[in-house]
Amino acid sequence: MKITFLGGGNMANALIGGMLNKGFAASDIAVIDPGSEARDKLAQSYGVVCHASTDALPEVGDLLVLAVKPQQMKEAAAPLVGKLGKAVVVSIAAGLDIATLARFLGGHRKIVRCMPNTPALIGAGITGLCAAPEVDDNERAAAERVLSAVGSTVWIADEGKMDGVTALSGSGPAYVFLFIEALQQAATDLGFTPEQGRQLAIETIQGAAALAAQSTEPASVLRERVTSKGGTTEAALRTMAEHGVKDGIVAGVKAAEARGRELGKLLGAG
Ligand SMILES: NC(=O)c1ccc[n+]([C@@H]2O[C@H](COP(=O)([O-])OP(=O)(O)OC[C@H]3O[C@@H](n4cnc5c(N)ncnc54)[C@H](OP(=O)(O)O)[C@@H]3O)[C@@H](O)[C@H]2O)c1
Repeated sequence: MKITFLGGGNMANALIGGMLNKGFAASDIAVIDPGSEARDKLAQSYGVVCHASTDALPEVGDLLVLAVKPQQMKEAAAPLVGKLGKAVVVSIAAGLDIATLARFLGGHRKIVRCMPNTPALIGAGITGLCAAPEVDDNERAAAERVLSAVGSTVWIADEGKMDGVTALSGSGPAYVFLFIEALQQAATDLGFTPEQGRQLAIETIQGAAALAAQSTEPASVLRERVTSKGGTTEAALRTMAEHGVKDGIVAGVKAAEARGRELGKLLGAG
């Protein structure tokens, strides 16, 4: 399978690094990026062929990964119109829906829209994928192989839910970072050094997430098991409830979803 990346920035680097680790051949991967620094880095790090523009690319290949910023997409996609043949287009651009991408690509409809998240940069991402009806099972599997090089994947049948994926897992790392920040601030207030606070906070989150992932019990049951009547955890959770922590998180995720829909409309209008 021959794969071309349009855009050779952070996400393209993460995907290509992950793909090579999973057995893809560097000789099957090409990248288009106007930046000579970006091209040099990719060529040196991964041995992939890089081109300064779409005009220099001999052929798009079987799969084209759109890895430019959403606001760069219209201009970056324009030179590809009429050159895509049967290529499957895999977009990782936040907020751009399949109809808008198809319009930017001159009516090409073999599109898989994806929403990865930043832990993909260390191979620990989760990506939501949504395929246009024109994409067949083999083509879906090919797109999934690319994204599963940087973490796990989940298929979303209804494209309308992609803003929800953005709100949950796309923006989700920021919610976890906020929680880490809060634990670290509490650690400082309680007299721990920043190093101790960082270790206590991050390793608690890693351990608890691993426990939740391995357990067959829901998170609520795991939480109840840590919460003895009259104990310290109960005191913490009661105070957090008084401050609306859980309700605030749920409302925040819904606000992100609504903002995703608004931004999608703005991008689609471009
Ligand atoms: N970073 C994340 O964690 C993350 C998570 C989810 C989704 N995404 C999506 O992934 C996409 C890429 O994000 P990123 O963080 O990798 O961005 P990035 O580092 O800015 O990479 C984009 C690259 O595309 C290049 N480019 C600009 N115009 C181009 C053109 N006409 N043709 C070819 N290449 C062009 C840019 O060059 P210049 O720098 O010179 O403009 C840059 O090297 C975005 O659409 C974003 O929404 C990213």
